[in-house]
Amino acid sequence: MFKLHFLLLFFAFKIAISLSARPYVTRISCGAQNDVRSVPTSTLWHKDFGYTGGIRKNANTTSFITPRLNTLRYFPLSEGPENCYNINKVPHGRYSVRIYFGLVAEPSFDDEPLFDVSIEGTLVYSLPPGWSNHDDEHAFVQTLVFLDNGTASLCFHSTGHGDPAILAIEILQVDDKAYYSGPGFGRRTIFRTSQRLSCGDRNSKFDVDYDGDLWGGDRFWSSIMTFGQNSDKPISTKSTIKSASVAPNFYPQALYQTALVSTDNEPDLMYTIDVDPNKNYSVWLHFAEIDPLVTDVGQRVIDISINGDIEFPGVDIVKMAGGVNSALVLNKTVAVSGRTLTITLHPTTGTHAIISAIEIFEVITAESKTSPEEVKALQSLNLALGLPRRFGWNGDPCFPQQHPWSGVDCQFDRSSNKWVIDGLGLDNQGLRGFLPDDISRLHHLQSINLSGNNIRGPIPSTVGTITSLEKLDLSYNYFNGSIPESLGELTSLLTLNLNGNLLSGKIPATLGGRLLHRASFNFTDNAGLCGIPGLPTCGPHLTVGAKIGIGFGACVAVVVIATCITCWWKRRQNILRAKRIAARDAPYAKKRTHFNHIQMSRHNHHGQHHENNTRTAVENGPPLLT
Ligand SMILES: *[C@@H]1O[C@H](CO)[C@@H](O)[C@H](O)[C@H]1NC(C)=O
Ligand SMILES: *[C@@H]1O[C@H](CO)[C@@H](O)[C@H](O)[C@H]1NC(C)=O
Ligand SMILES: *[C@@H]1O[C@H](CO)[C@@H](O)[C@H](O)[C@H]1NC(C)=O
Ligand SMILES: *[C@@H]1O[C@H](CO)[C@@H](O)[C@H](O)[C@H]1NC(C)=O
Ligand SMILES: *[C@@H]1O[C@H](CO)[C@@H](O)[C@H](O)[C@H]1NC(C)=O
Ligand SMILES: *[C@@H]1O[C@H](CO)[C@@H](O)[C@H](O)[C@H]1NC(C)=O
Ligand SMILES: *[C@@H]1O[C@H](CO)[C@@H](O)[C@H](O)[C@H]1NC(C)=O
Repeated sequence: MFKLHFLLLFFAFKIAISLSARPYVTRISCGAQNDVRSVPTSTLWHKDFGYTGGIRKNANTTSFITPRLNTLRYFPLSEGPENCYNINKVPHGRYSVRIYFGLVAEPSFDDEPLFDVSIEGTLVYSLPPGWSNHDDEHAFVQTLVFLDNGTASLCFHSTGHGDPAILAIEILQVDDKAYYSGPGFGRRTIFRTSQRLSCGDRNSKFDVDYDGDLWGGDRFWSSIMTFGQNSDKPISTKSTIKSASVAPNFYPQALYQTALVSTDNEPDLMYTIDVDPNKNYSVWLHFAEIDPLVTDVGQRVIDISINGDIEFPGVDIVKMAGGVNSALVLNKTVAVSGRTLTITLHPTTGTHAIISAIEIFEVITAESKTSPEEVKALQSLNLALGLPRRFGWNGDPCFPQQHPWSGVDCQFDRSSNKWVIDGLGLDNQGLRGFLPDDISRLHHLQSINLSGNNIRGPIPSTVGTITSLEKLDLSYNYFNGSIPESLGELTSLLTLNLNGNLLSGKIPATLGGRLLHRASFNFTDNAGLCGIPGLPTCGPHLTVGAKIGIGFGACVAVVVIATCITCWWKRRQNILRAKRIAARDAPYAKKRTHFNHIQMSRHNHHGQHHENNTRTAVENGPPLLT
């Protein structure tokens, strides 16, 4: 029993160790419906996942170094200008991210697409014209980045030259300190591989072909057999190389078993590549003294300059590496203003220079990100308004700065130290949804233009909390209900266009007052707005109780009026009848009048009987009086 436990524990421990010792690896075969393994290395590529849209197609690969995969995913402009792969659950760390490009294998797609690639919101690469005609490293972009947030967001931005088409993606974890280049290097430092050369090796290779360490990130090394005509020659050794595969970069030892050395014709070794001007480049130079002619310290000393400046004076490889057949890596970051970068190795002791490998990276500083709160609010707006796919709101709304989401304006907010949305311009886009309450989470908005859509429902009262709002144009939609009272709290408002909707009711007094004084507004063409000059005046503002009261009062009034009319009508009928009777029976009536008259005179003389007689006369009167 104890033994079994011990064994289990032991295995658990071993598994834990081997797990922690393996870097995180994800490879995606874009457009693939099943996992595939590529020859000759039997590398596993997952079936397609994590994409924001696009269409799967058969692929035409352009280079011998692209993995043998048959499918790709392409992103037509109808799916929006910004499309991404968002790969979740990527442990926080430093990664080598490689994206392979492909061509759609259909004659109608004969154009080579040119587009921009961003990683975590930072533009890292623009495909150069002619990339698909090159046979080598133009088939992919490779970068070293920190991934902080559990997600790798790789986006492809249309530039109007064809639809981005992605063949495969590799996300390979490397050491957290990989390619640490000294002070100034930080979590926002991105290295994009410009060139990676294995000198004197006949074939281009990946780390895996060199049987290199997994933590190396499976770099691709281009073969270079000469830097120029007869100025140098390749050499190689089968001896073991010491200190090659060590942290943080784990170079394959075979990289140092070949080299280029200069010849008697030309003692200097000189290598030049074309670069983009006004950028910083990180240059990594690899050496191992494998030349049998050099056996000890002091026999070969080299000055190394980059674009004419001596960056590494007096490099004695044997001395610095601690012996022959031992690896030495030097790195330097240089600012380049021109279009070329030239590395010169000039021997000061001995007659020849030597070099095993060269790596050149463009140094890119990672961009910021939009405040996550605002991103969420935009996503909810996207759903509520039913934005068409062609908007392609994918990736970060504000980044890369060259490719913000369409209809979204961004600004750096100094008070919160974050990038925020300050404008929404979605006018005349055929939107059919409603305006959600949480539009107010975009509380840095200064301008909203949703004019000329088919947006329905009420204007959310939360709009009144976007205090920085200066322009609100909701004209020509189907907004109904009344204008929320809260809009009166928008003290910065300069323009308010609500014309051409189905709004009704009173314009909030605070709002009306201010607009009349200093802002421009338009309330025309609505279902029935009132309350400011130019619009109808409003009835008194009534509470429910008041309305009930008025209703009740109105009923009472109706009853009273009906009663009065009935009475009046009856009386009128009686008068008419009386007149008819009078006309028929005139002597009687006259006699009565006469009689009254007699009574009256009697009364004047004999007060005692007066009342009785008068009463009698009155009591007899009704036929006359009523
Ligand atoms: C694949 O690409 C090659 C070279 O770019 C071209 O000759 C060939 O016609 C393409 N195949 C298809 C099916 O598009
Ligand atoms: C990382 O994600 C969390 C939530 O998923 C968010 O709160 C945080 O701001 C994000 N950090 C960055 C740097 O994007
Ligand atoms: C690169 O060079 C800097 C000094 O310039 C050094 O501090 C750093 O350790 C070097 N990086 C590696 C990985 O050797
Ligand atoms: C190059 O590096 C220097 C020093 O680190 C920095 O001041 C400069 O902004 C960088 N230039 C570019 C184009 O990134
Ligand atoms: C909103 O967009 C419409 C249509 O594009 C335009 O006519 C109007 O001037 C814009 N409103 C504001 C306040 O800029
Ligand atoms: C506004 O329109 C919606 C339908 O678009 C309707 O359901 C709602 O009752 C209307 N509201 C008012 C106050 O008329
Ligand atoms: C207000 O909107 C109406 C149409 O709804 C338009 O005819 C009128 O010119 C607008 N007034 C102003 C001052 O813009």
